[in-house]
Amino acid sequence: MALSQSGSTRDHWSSRSAFILAAIGSAVGLGNLWRFPAEAGANGGGAFVLFYIGCVVLIGLPILLSETLIGRHGQASAPESVRRVASASRASPHWDILASMGVLAAFLILSFYCVVGGWVLYYIGVFFVDIFNSGISGGAFTDQSAEQIESLFPTMIGSAGWTVGLDALFLGITLYFVARGVSGGIEFVAKWLMPAFFVLLILITVYGAFGGAFNQTLEYLFTFEPEKLTGPIMLAALGQAFFSLSLGVAGMITYGSYVGRNVNLASTSALISGADTAVALIAGLCIFPIVFSAGLSVSAGPGLMFQTLPHAFQEMPFGSVVGLAFFVMVGFAALTSSVALLEVPVAWMIDKFRVVRVFSAIIVGFGALVLGALAALSFNVLSDWHPLDFIPIFEGQGFFDVLDGLTAKFFMPIGAILTALFIGWVADRKLVDIENGLGGALHLTWLALVRFVCPIALAAILVVGLLPEEE
Ligand code: PHE
Repeated sequence: MALSQSGSTRDHWSSRSAFILAAIGSAVGLGNLWRFPAEAGANGGGAFVLFYIGCVVLIGLPILLSETLIGRHGQASAPESVRRVASASRASPHWDILASMGVLAAFLILSFYCVVGGWVLYYIGVFFVDIFNSGISGGAFTDQSAEQIESLFPTMIGSAGWTVGLDALFLGITLYFVARGVSGGIEFVAKWLMPAFFVLLILITVYGAFGGAFNQTLEYLFTFEPEKLTGPIMLAALGQAFFSLSLGVAGMITYGSYVGRNVNLASTSALISGADTAVALIAGLCIFPIVFSAGLSVSAGPGLMFQTLPHAFQEMPFGSVVGLAFFVMVGFAALTSSVALLEVPVAWMIDKFRVVRVFSAIIVGFGALVLGALAALSFNVLSDWHPLDFIPIFEGQGFFDVLDGLTAKFFMPIGAILTALFIGWVADRKLVDIENGLGGALHLTWLALVRFVCPIALAAILVVGLLPEEE
């Protein structure tokens, strides 16, 4: 524990590297491994991917630095941190809306995120059982047809019992670590799981690179066809960049609030966004060759990762062991992110109601279970329920997709616009200069991005993304 500016004892990361690992742990998750390939596939590949990378560099990175800066200065839960920066800048405390919206968004994301985390647990179980059935030396799923393997996913999400039960299990594991606190729980998960994750990811990708269809993947992911870049695709790419970097939901404000004064926030933010983007691209390079060589559809949506990968493991020697390792790795990455998502509302509740951490975690966890169950059921018994049918971009979507779209396409960009305006135009310049750790030309570039590029580009992408498409 370290002493915060306000004089109270507040748990902190034990070191700079602990913060870096936790923040990378928050950023790298299902967003990179599951959502990025699915979104890239659904939105036409190359144009999406290159626009996404542009969003990360020109919008994501400056906002990431702005968020961590607010948190480190504030040393409190996200809304309180914003109020402290506002008060030091003689600005209105109502700017805290940017963080309050974020707390709500983090809670909504947590709810559907744990549903997908549950699917990952299911596949860990599938490969585990397969090791018993087929042994370890051959491929996975001996004697099963391609249809049988692919039907695993629809069968599982079609069952109310499985989807809700697994959601609850994943949420329960998340809750356990958050209840243990920052240095004891969250840091522990990140320190052990993130390095293990990187080793496994590299191994599996190198393995996959020899499996053919690699060139086709490169072409698919990196050929820029500007005419394909429509408004909705731009908004989807922007939403993906925010989702993946954990931005616009007060997550990085919260994690920044546990950072000590000795950490350079600018270089750390660059490292976090670099690592996150690299993992997303590697995930693409890992998954698409399999999609292509198995002749599957790139636009399979949420099932993409779950339906394609088992194919690859069928043919690989030691397939069931590698498959198990892969899904354990995805589970690790998901857990370090779900922990971050739960921490945001939990930290807020501790500050606001002066309750103990465990109590706060249980209450938030219960809320997320209720919403999560509704999201899980939208794949089976509630599949006909389309709550936002009256809004064109949500037409025909179930509760799970609505939660996902609402957070990535509204909450995150709007939270980011407010953050950019607050840090670029409202916050005290001296405070910002001291916190950001940038000098000279880099500082000016960052300021120009936060002041002009971020708000204008975000507003523009939101507008073109939401305009009805011309036929
Ligand atoms: N960035 C995480 C992922 O890519 C998801 C996340 C979003 C985590 C927002 C925390 C806050 O999986």
